[in-house]
Amino acid sequence: MPGIPIKPTVLAEIQRQFNHELGAAQGYLAMALWCEDQNFKGFARYFRKQVAEEREHADKFMAHLIARGVLPELQALAAPKTQFASLLDVARTAQQMEQVNTAGVNQVFEAALESKDYPAQVMVQWFINEQVEEEAWTDEMVARVERAACAGSLMDLDRHLEKILGEVEQAS
Ligand SMILES: [Fe+2]
Ligand SMILES: [Fe+2]
Repeated sequence: MPGIPIKPTVLAEIQRQFNHELGAAQGYLAMALWCEDQNFKGFARYFRKQVAEEREHADKFMAHLIARGVLPELQALAAPKTQFASLLDVARTAQQMEQVNTAGVNQVFEAALESKDYPAQVMVQWFINEQVEEEAWTDEMVARVERAACAGSLMDLDRHLEKILGEVEQAS
Protein backbone atom coordinates (compact mmCIF):
# COMPACT_ATOMS: atom_id res chain seq x y z
CA MET A 1 0.00 0.00 0.00
CA PRO A 2 1.27 3.52 -0.79
CA GLY A 3 1.51 6.39 1.68
CA ILE A 4 4.16 8.89 2.82
CA PRO A 5 7.35 6.78 2.97
CA ILE A 6 8.80 6.03 6.38
CA LYS A 7 12.51 5.63 7.11
CA PRO A 8 13.75 2.37 8.67
CA THR A 9 14.91 4.08 11.89
CA VAL A 10 11.48 5.59 12.54
CA LEU A 11 9.73 2.39 11.52
CA ALA A 12 11.84 0.33 13.91
CA GLU A 13 11.02 2.67 16.81
CA ILE A 14 7.30 2.63 16.09
CA GLN A 15 7.32 -1.18 15.79
CA ARG A 16 9.13 -1.47 19.11
CA GLN A 17 6.86 1.02 20.81
CA PHE A 18 3.48 -0.40 19.76
CA ASN A 19 4.59 -3.86 20.83
CA HIS A 20 5.67 -2.29 24.09
CA GLU A 21 2.18 -0.78 24.49
CA LEU A 22 0.70 -4.25 24.00
CA GLY A 23 3.12 -5.48 26.65
CA ALA A 24 1.90 -2.73 28.96
CA ALA A 25 -1.68 -3.92 28.38
CA GLN A 26 -0.62 -7.41 29.49
CA GLY A 27 1.17 -5.91 32.48
CA TYR A 28 -1.99 -4.09 33.58
CA LEU A 29 -4.07 -7.21 32.99
CA ALA A 30 -1.80 -9.13 35.37
CA MET A 31 -2.25 -6.34 37.95
CA ALA A 32 -6.04 -6.40 37.51
CA LEU A 33 -6.12 -10.17 38.02
CA TRP A 34 -3.97 -9.98 41.14
CA CYS A 35 -6.23 -7.26 42.56
CA GLU A 36 -9.36 -9.28 41.74
CA ASP A 37 -7.86 -12.28 43.49
CA GLN A 38 -7.06 -10.13 46.54
CA ASN A 39 -10.53 -8.51 46.56
CA PHE A 40 -9.23 -5.06 45.69
CA LYS A 41 -12.14 -4.57 43.32
CA GLY A 42 -11.68 -0.84 42.86
CA PHE A 43 -8.06 -1.23 41.84
CA ALA A 44 -8.95 -4.17 39.62
CA ARG A 45 -11.47 -2.04 37.73
CA TYR A 46 -8.95 0.74 37.42
CA PHE A 47 -6.32 -1.56 35.94
CA ARG A 48 -8.85 -3.12 33.56
CA LYS A 49 -9.45 0.40 32.26
CA GLN A 50 -5.71 0.75 31.71
CA VAL A 51 -5.62 -2.50 29.72
CA ALA A 52 -8.13 -1.02 27.26
CA GLU A 53 -6.19 2.27 27.11
CA GLU A 54 -2.86 0.61 26.36
CA ARG A 55 -4.46 -1.38 23.55
CA GLU A 56 -5.81 1.85 22.13
CA HIS A 57 -2.30 3.29 22.28
CA ALA A 58 -0.96 0.33 20.30
CA ASP A 59 -3.82 0.81 17.82
CA LYS A 60 -2.86 4.46 17.25
CA PHE A 61 0.70 3.49 16.31
CA MET A 62 -0.48 0.59 14.14
CA ALA A 63 -2.98 2.81 12.31
CA HIS A 64 -0.14 5.25 11.58
CA LEU A 65 1.94 2.47 10.04
CA ILE A 66 -0.96 1.23 7.93
CA ALA A 67 -1.51 4.79 6.68
CA ARG A 68 2.20 4.95 5.78
CA GLY A 69 1.88 1.77 3.73
CA VAL A 70 3.55 -0.57 6.24
CA LEU A 71 2.12 -3.74 7.71
CA PRO A 72 2.66 -3.63 11.51
CA GLU A 73 4.58 -6.60 12.85
CA LEU A 74 3.29 -8.18 16.03
CA GLN A 75 6.09 -9.53 18.17
CA ALA A 76 6.18 -12.05 21.00
CA LEU A 77 5.53 -10.32 24.30
CA ALA A 78 7.50 -11.05 27.44
CA ALA A 79 5.40 -12.53 30.23
CA PRO A 80 4.36 -9.78 32.63
CA LYS A 81 4.99 -9.82 36.37
CA THR A 82 2.04 -11.76 37.81
CA GLN A 83 2.94 -12.16 41.48
CA PHE A 84 3.01 -9.15 43.77
CA ALA A 85 4.08 -8.85 47.38
CA SER A 86 1.48 -6.18 48.14
CA LEU A 87 -0.72 -3.51 46.63
CA LEU A 88 2.21 -1.14 47.00
CA ASP A 89 4.30 -3.52 44.90
CA VAL A 90 1.55 -3.38 42.24
CA ALA A 91 1.45 0.42 42.32
CA ARG A 92 5.22 0.70 42.07
CA THR A 93 5.30 -1.77 39.18
CA ALA A 94 2.74 0.37 37.32
CA GLN A 95 4.80 3.49 38.06
CA GLN A 96 7.97 1.88 36.70
CA MET A 97 6.14 0.62 33.63
CA GLU A 98 4.95 4.13 32.82
CA GLN A 99 8.43 5.57 33.29
CA VAL A 100 9.85 3.03 30.83
CA ASN A 101 6.98 3.80 28.48
CA THR A 102 7.73 7.52 28.55
CA ALA A 103 11.35 6.79 27.62
CA GLY A 104 10.11 4.63 24.72
CA VAL A 105 7.77 7.34 23.45
CA ASN A 106 10.59 9.88 23.62
CA GLN A 107 12.80 7.53 21.60
CA VAL A 108 10.19 7.40 18.84
CA PHE A 109 10.03 11.19 18.86
CA GLU A 110 13.81 11.52 18.66
CA ALA A 111 13.99 9.17 15.67
CA ALA A 112 11.20 11.16 13.99
CA LEU A 113 13.06 14.42 14.68
CA GLU A 114 16.32 13.08 13.27
CA SER A 115 14.60 11.82 10.13
CA LYS A 116 12.58 15.02 9.72
CA ASP A 117 9.53 12.78 9.71
CA TYR A 118 6.91 15.46 10.41
CA PRO A 119 3.82 13.21 10.32
CA ALA A 120 5.42 10.83 12.86
CA GLN A 121 6.45 13.81 15.04
CA VAL A 122 2.89 15.10 15.16
CA MET A 123 1.50 11.63 15.84
CA VAL A 124 3.92 11.00 18.73
CA GLN A 125 3.16 14.37 20.32
CA TRP A 126 -0.17 12.95 21.48
CA PHE A 127 1.75 10.23 23.35
CA ILE A 128 4.18 12.71 24.89
CA ASN A 129 1.21 14.53 26.37
CA GLU A 130 -0.48 11.31 27.43
CA GLN A 131 2.61 10.20 29.35
CA VAL A 132 2.49 13.38 31.44
CA GLU A 133 -0.91 12.22 32.73
CA GLU A 134 0.11 8.58 33.00
CA GLU A 135 3.13 9.37 35.14
CA ALA A 136 1.11 11.81 37.25
CA TRP A 137 -1.56 9.22 38.10
CA THR A 138 0.90 6.42 38.84
CA ASP A 139 2.88 8.77 41.12
CA GLU A 140 -0.36 9.73 42.85
CA MET A 141 -1.38 6.09 43.20
CA VAL A 142 1.96 5.12 44.78
CA ALA A 143 1.69 8.05 47.23
CA ARG A 144 -1.90 7.18 48.17
CA VAL A 145 -1.17 3.48 48.62
CA GLU A 146 1.90 4.31 50.73
CA ARG A 147 -0.18 6.52 52.99
CA ALA A 148 -3.07 4.04 53.22
CA ALA A 149 -0.65 1.21 54.02
CA CYS A 150 0.63 3.21 57.03
CA ALA A 151 -2.88 4.01 58.23
CA GLY A 152 -4.13 0.46 57.58
CA SER A 153 -6.88 1.75 55.30
CA LEU A 154 -6.10 0.11 51.96
CA MET A 155 -9.64 -1.26 51.76
CA ASP A 156 -11.07 2.24 52.25
CA LEU A 157 -8.92 3.48 49.40
CA ASP A 158 -10.11 0.58 47.25
CA ARG A 159 -13.78 1.29 48.01
CA HIS A 160 -13.19 4.96 47.26
CA LEU A 161 -11.69 4.06 43.88
CA GLU A 162 -14.57 1.73 43.08
CA LYS A 163 -17.07 4.47 43.91
CA ILE A 164 -15.30 7.01 41.69
CA LEU A 165 -15.12 4.57 38.78
CA GLY A 166 -18.78 3.66 39.20
CA GLU A 167 -19.72 7.33 39.00
CA VAL A 168 -17.52 7.84 35.93
CA GLU A 169 -19.17 4.90 34.18
CA GLN A 170 -22.68 6.12 34.98
CA ALA A 171 -21.84 9.58 33.68
CA SER A 172 -20.44 8.29 30.38
FE1 LIG B 1 0.51 3.66 26.66
FE1 LIG C 1 0.14 3.92 30.07
